[in-house]
Amino acid sequence: MLNVGVLASGRGTNLQAILDACARGEIPARVAVVVSDNPAAPALERARRAGVPAVFVDPRGRKKREFEAEISRILKEHGVELVCLAGYMRVLGRAFLEEWEGRVLNIHPSLLPAFPGLEAQRQAWEYGVKVAGCTVHFVVPEVDAGPIVLQAAVPVLGDDTPETLAGRILEQEHRIYPEAIRLYAEGRLRIEGRRVIILPPAAERDEDRREEEMRWGNGVGRS
Ligand code: GRF
Repeated sequence: MLNVGVLASGRGTNLQAILDACARGEIPARVAVVVSDNPAAPALERARRAGVPAVFVDPRGRKKREFEAEISRILKEHGVELVCLAGYMRVLGRAFLEEWEGRVLNIHPSLLPAFPGLEAQRQAWEYGVKVAGCTVHFVVPEVDAGPIVLQAAVPVLGDDTPETLAGRILEQEHRIYPEAIRLYAEGRLRIEGRRVIILPPAAERDEDRREEEMRWGNGVGRS
């Protein structure tokens, strides 16, 4: 079971999708703790309802570095192995990201690298694109720029408003975020530069290895 820590600032529907997928046994992971920078975040309430520790860390009157060091301490205290940002409204600093390198995921409501930053769905709608969507990516210090794990495309309809479009994108977010966590938990994500390689399931990899060994004998004939 992979221990996941979720950072969320707001309503927490992506957190809920992750909690639900874990509860249904769809991903070999559990949410070990939810941390928020906002004491009124509905995400905290969702965590408590699911029996998950919910911690508010007050960002006011302290340096970013200290604030994030406290978050990191809480995550480690709960045995977290993967950090998932789910509507976390702050940009994480270098120290935090160095400590958790390759172990932080984010979901963004656009097909990156198009429309990074805030209100991505509105940006896409105003630009007039015909296809919008969402992206799960590893987090690097540059905002919305890390290696991409999964994306889902959503058509923009003639009568869409930014709100209706955002609603359909959100449905896809709730599908691909748990899916990306599942792939991570199964050890199937390998970062190679900008690219994330998705490996086949372990059973298939074993099968390939057996076939390889049959073909070559156990090491015999290999140079
Ligand atoms: C989502 O649109 C997500 O893509 C973005 O922030 C929003 C969070 O929504 N990063 P919720 O709090 O998960 O409902």
